[in-house]
Amino acid sequence: MKIYAHRGSSGTHPENTIVAFKAAAKLPIHGVEFDVHMTKDHELVVIHDETINRTSNGTGFIKDMTLAELKKFDFGSWYSYEFKKETIPTLREVLYVFKDTHHHLNIELKSDVFPYEGMEQAVLQMLKDYRLEARVVISSFNHEMVRNVKQLAPPIETAVLFMEVMIEPHKYADVVGADALHAFFPTVLREMGAEAIASGKKVRVFTVNDEKYADLLKRIGVDAIFTDYPEKMWKYLKS
Ligand code: G3P
Ligand code: MG
Repeated sequence: MKIYAHRGSSGTHPENTIVAFKAAAKLPIHGVEFDVHMTKDHELVVIHDETINRTSNGTGFIKDMTLAELKKFDFGSWYSYEFKKETIPTLREVLYVFKDTHHHLNIELKSDVFPYEGMEQAVLQMLKDYRLEARVVISSFNHEMVRNVKQLAPPIETAVLFMEVMIEPHKYADVVGADALHAFFPTVLREMGAEAIASGKKVRVFTVNDEKYADLLKRIGVDAIFTDYPEKMWKYLKS
């Protein structure tokens, strides 16, 4: 079973910051996951929430601020003062960290609350610039955007994200044009999980920080887990 560092090494560093990504980039894990939003001046930035309130010393919506405005805030101190120099990373800066590593990159488009116009095209162009198309999976809770990505760039791997217990979600994924299923942890323990795994589609599960749940998921045959503690989980699963 593979491991993805969720929002970078976010259990031990401030989530979705360069220091969290550099920590993940040093690990012999399969991949890393991160979340993308769009600024007022159409720059792609890596952050989980729609606002900067929880993870910085500022307040406000990403969509209402320019990159230059956002770059003035401290995105590390909320976690620990030793990270006070962290700023909001652009997607370009994060891709740069991984350009020469082996890691598979899960780019989550956070367009389910605000459907950022042109986000798919902007992300795809950047992947082309970095020649990273073969090393990514693009996912979203906004399935319209997943469908758009598949239509715009069929070779790029896509995934639908979902929280619910569903019936034959792999069939739904085919409707969307998604290659893989990214499921909320407890839902895969229901019948749905077995159905999806039996379909042959990759099933990746978020967010798994407890070793006993990792064991359980490994036994039922999920392809990968997203965890905030990738180093701890890697050491545990390899032993
Ligand atoms: O992509 C997996 C997981 O990150 C989805 O949930 O809220 O942590 O972005 P969230
Ligand atoms: Mg995410």
